[in-house]
Amino acid sequence: MIEIETERLVLRRFRIRDAAPMAAYRNDPDIARYQAWPSPLTPEAATDQARVYSEQDPEQPGWFQYAIELKADRSMVGDLGVNLHANRLQADLGYTLAPGLHGQGYATEAVRAVLDHLFRWGLHRVSAECDARNTPSARLLERVGFDLEGRRPEFTLNINTGEWTDTLLYGLLASRWQKPAVGPQEH
Ligand SMILES: CC(C)(COP(=O)(O)OP(=O)(O)OC[C@H]1O[C@@H](n2cnc3c(N)ncnc32)[C@H](O)[C@@H]1OP(=O)(O)O)[C@@H](O)C(=O)NCCC(=O)NCCS
Repeated sequence: MIEIETERLVLRRFRIRDAAPMAAYRNDPDIARYQAWPSPLTPEAATDQARVYSEQDPEQPGWFQYAIELKADRSMVGDLGVNLHANRLQADLGYTLAPGLHGQGYATEAVRAVLDHLFRWGLHRVSAECDARNTPSARLLERVGFDLEGRRPEFTLNINTGEWTDTLLYGLLASRWQKPAVGPQEH
């Protein structure tokens, strides 16, 4: 299952032409602040990255990166990564949304839809980490039901700034997942 449709979004496989919008938001300093991406992301590197994403398999262990597309105008506005563990019963989650679209619930909508898909598929647990200063990300995780499970002091080295940063650890068990009232449609 590759494509997930929600009320306002389509989450789909990456295409090479997603490289330009992806580079635009990943090169925004506000978006990159708490991320470990090499910065700046050149057009060539973005194309290579989009190609790698476009060839990933969501049913195999490892990362699968969904492109997030707005239904309203079909623009590519973010990405959401799922790292399936070798046991196919656990996964890690990461996400990014283009800056002009924050504060409208789009990332929450995307994360909820992917969680719903993963738990229906049979996953036991999903984990996520974020920089302890990344309040929007922590709020998103708590909004969709993740539990804060710990804080690792100076656990992550930011390759762009050289800072050691505290990392928040979040987890969500299948037994605690609250299904959305209207489920996403899968294709
Ligand atoms: C993390 C990130 C995706 C969160 O973006 P966001 O816009 O805060 O999240 P959402 O799109 O879900 O929007 C939620 C906000 O919209 C509001 N909102 C408005 N309409 C909403 C709706 N229909 N449903 C849910 N929330 C809605 C919420 O109240 C919330 O605002 P608040 O946090 O001030 O309470 C964004 O900050 C980002 O891309 N950051 C850069 C990359 C990054 O750090 N990723 C995380 C790595 S761990």
